[in-house]
Amino acid sequence: MSFPISTFSRQVQNIKIFGKDFLADSFTNIPQSIIEKTNRILYKQKTHPLSLLKNKLITFLTFKDFQLFENFIPIVTPKSNFDDLLIPPAHISRTRTDSFFINSSHLLRTHTTAHYADILTQQHQGNFVIVGDVYRRDTVDKRHYPVFHQMDIVRFFPADSSDSFIVQSLQSDIVSLLNAVFGRPIDFRWTAAYFPFTEASLEIEIRHNNEWIELLGCGILRQEILSAGAGITNKRAYAFGLGLERLAMILLDIQDIRMFWSEDERFLGQYSDGMLKKFTPFSIFPQSWRDVSFWIKENSNFHPNDFYQLVREIGCDLIQDVSLVRFPFIIHFVD
Ligand code: DAH
Repeated sequence: MSFPISTFSRQVQNIKIFGKDFLADSFTNIPQSIIEKTNRILYKQKTHPLSLLKNKLITFLTFKDFQLFENFIPIVTPKSNFDDLLIPPAHISRTRTDSFFINSSHLLRTHTTAHYADILTQQHQGNFVIVGDVYRRDTVDKRHYPVFHQMDIVRFFPADSSDSFIVQSLQSDIVSLLNAVFGRPIDFRWTAAYFPFTEASLEIEIRHNNEWIELLGCGILRQEILSAGAGITNKRAYAFGLGLERLAMILLDIQDIRMFWSEDERFLGQYSDGMLKKFTPFSIFPQSWRDVSFWIKENSNFHPNDFYQLVREIGCDLIQDVSLVRFPFIIHFVD
């Protein structure tokens, strides 16, 4: 395939997104296909597996006194997505190669953590959960898609709580949550991690099909985010953030992340009863039914297998299923 180079250097003058107009500039790199994705809001489609998983996670959080924020639109500023979270100026996620910029002053959030400042600066001092779609330029493979979904959880503690108490609570809250979601004790391990906005930073990995998979990042929220950023000095907090697709793929045995965007009934129909269950794979080809009828001369030595073989020859491997409705059904022609 070849594309004119203008496809890549195209300068959109005006960008309309969520009913707002933005002027493009030299930072703009958001394609129309991504703008369209912002309208899907999968995590709020009642029986979509990502929405069901969101509800399940929320139900099983060990603490119940939190406020849910799931209505933030995904347009954020570099300040809230990066600066307020102490993400260094040279961090790769600030570049046009890694993130989708509407222009130099607005981008699509790269994580739901981008809304901490929105919440904290309102002097909100209670526990909270944020859910949303997030956007990243990334590799093309079955585990990556430029849009995915995250949940961020923040739980507060009194100012005199020790690091070890907060980390212990964090670890036990996460393990209880995952055990409840999986419906069995998970096989897990903790690894040290680095996030600019947490001080003791950790990751949990779970064993799935004999492979260790990173599931979520967490840590004690840096005190400057609470104090300098939001004037909160009488509290400490832990935070953790997880990708919904990563968890859903393990939980439901979904092999390809693109499946979550499918509008095929054979996918959505599997969850229409609101139950999160293992995914039953189906053909990658669109479903299409054909009725075929024909008659056979009496006493011919036709066998249904003759017809099946004909189907194999003509339809190659595209035909999944042939059901025989009635055979033999004898019609006598009157001379
Ligand atoms: N925002 C991080 C990311 O997208 C994930 C994350 C890590 C969230 C640690 C947290 C946290 O709340 O404590 O990679």
